[in-house]
Amino acid sequence: MESSSVDKLSALINELPKQPWYGADLYNWKGFWYRPHHLSSTMAASSNFQAKDDDVILTSSMKTGTTWMKAIIPTIMNPVGRTDDDSLDPLLKHHPNELIPSLEIQVYSVNPHPDLSNMVSPRLFRTHMAYPLLPESIKTSGCKIVYITRDPKDTFVSTCHFMNSVIAARGVEPWPMSEAFESFCKGVHTFGPFHDHVLGYWKESLKRPEKICFMRYEDMKKDPKGEVKKLACFLGRPFEKDQEVEKVVWRCSLERLKNLEMNQHGVDPWLGIDYKHYFRRGIVGDWKNHFTDEMKEKLEQLTAMKFEGSGLSLGY
Ligand code: A3P
Repeated sequence: MESSSVDKLSALINELPKQPWYGADLYNWKGFWYRPHHLSSTMAASSNFQAKDDDVILTSSMKTGTTWMKAIIPTIMNPVGRTDDDSLDPLLKHHPNELIPSLEIQVYSVNPHPDLSNMVSPRLFRTHMAYPLLPESIKTSGCKIVYITRDPKDTFVSTCHFMNSVIAARGVEPWPMSEAFESFCKGVHTFGPFHDHVLGYWKESLKRPEKICFMRYEDMKKDPKGEVKKLACFLGRPFEKDQEVEKVVWRCSLERLKNLEMNQHGVDPWLGIDYKHYFRRGIVGDWKNHFTDEMKEKLEQLTAMKFEGSGLSLGY
């Protein structure tokens, strides 16, 4: 970026509301919280990305099961994902982050006008942008959006573990869960507020179910085959045989992915984060191991209040 643009961006960022989060600062842009290094690329992607009708865009707030979908969507879309030959599976050599590029973390992180002309269609992208911040062409073109979300209590616990592992690797003390919890309830966490993020996609998915597939982590855990079948139909790639669905579910399972060499020892070159941190327990209700009664009460009441009248429920 030219130095005048950098100066303008720094001036703009300095005027935004700021809050501390896991030893760094978050900035609020158009109602959502960002690390400064994701902000410029988010702004660029939001203004400049041109969607194509056959693109697939995976969207989520953080720690809601995105990595699972980053594995499943490419496996559904790639004919190799359905073949019997496991040795051809791209997941063997690539962490899911590498199979579906992030608009703000990868594609727009270096250049606000990247050349995407060499990308083979159908293109797959992911973003943590909230619905109102999405590039206009994603909303108006024929591209499909897959949104994944999760019980906010488990999302919070997962975020805590992930962020404390990430900052520990940099020698930073863990952020106490009680402080992180207050911050989460105020909506202050990267890409949050969680509830606003979910509601934006939920409301739009009710209006345009053919455009947005709204998925829940808990439904995926309960019936992975059924959910993967539904997703494949939504993406226009229905399965012909049951064995194909089983194959996709197994290839993308936590048990398999977390034990692959690449995922145990690799490092994300874009974020400098060990790939192993993306795979933890993967259960529904881990919050019960961490929450006091007060925390449960507070977050459930907040969720009920935020979602009131929307028809959405995420408590388990
Ligand atoms: P836990 O921290 O509760 O274990 P994200 O991918 O959006 O960052 O979300 C991370 C959460 O998804 C973590 O939850 C992680 O363990 C879980 N996860 C990652 N890969 C998964 C998979 N293949 N199947 C099920 N859960 C997975």
